Amino acid sequence: MVKYKEGFSAQMVHYLLNTLTAKRGALLDPFSGTGTALFASRELGWEATGIELLPVGCAITKARQVAEQMELKALQQEMKTIRDIDFSAIKPDSPIRHIAITEGAFSQETEDQLNGYLTYCENRVEDPHLKTFFRFAAFCILERVSYTRKDGQYLRWDYRAGRSLVKSKFDKGKVYPFKEALQLQLDLMVEDLLCDDMDLFKRKKPKKEPRIRLIQGSCLEELCKLDDEYFDFILTSPP
Ligand SMILES: C[S@@+](CC[C@H](N)C(=O)[O-])C[C@H]1O[C@@H](n2cnc3c(N)ncnc32)[C@H](O)[C@@H]1O
Repeated sequence: MVKYKEGFSAQMVHYLLNTLTAKRGALLDPFSGTGTALFASRELGWEATGIELLPVGCAITKARQVAEQMELKALQQEMKTIRDIDFSAIKPDSPIRHIAITEGAFSQETEDQLNGYLTYCENRVEDPHLKTFFRFAAFCILERVSYTRKDGQYLRWDYRAGRSLVKSKFDKGKVYPFKEALQLQLDLMVEDLLCDDMDLFKRKKPKKEPRIRLIQGSCLEELCKLDDEYFDFILTSPP
């Protein structure tokens, strides 16, 4: 649900590691994106370190890390509670701050719901893993509930936003009400977590699973802080 086109596939990471090296050890991905190389290598027993510059890549990697630590019962309970809340009635602590290119992206109703929901997550969802998970769900639906669509490096604006300067009328189709989009997204995320491939809640985790370390920053500054000769395998794109 998050548009990120540059990611590796887990199969490719498995293939490379299985083909190029027999022994496990420490892996580094200095441009770790959404963390595919980190999670896929850990599945094979590697201890993985990633460096990523963009907050969006780090947010996705962290959401995946917390998903592994959530309790299914607590998650289902919170989802039930959320279903009945009118978020627009919650006074936001710190409403989202727009930058010029996002001004007017949401209807007032949607923006009120979004602000109320984020405040609810901050103040009422106590478990830090659940908090990250629920905030991430809102992040995933931003485009669906907005008058915009990402198009390469730019945003295209639906005519209903009333800010298009061009004559051609762009209609992005259904603009989802916040609550509907959120519910769909949460259901999808839980379905993903329960599917056989992920199996996060059923899987017996080894007592000492190799860890994933994520460093948020530029590898140009962070690489020199890492220990010399520590890594056994570097998987990187760009090369
Ligand atoms: C091709 S993608 C990496 C995909 C990743 N290996 C995966 O499996 O998802 C390149 C990533 O490098 C990040 N990046 C660009 N410059 C960077 C820098 N100086 N330091 C760290 N990350 C950087 C970009 O934000 C982008 O997410």
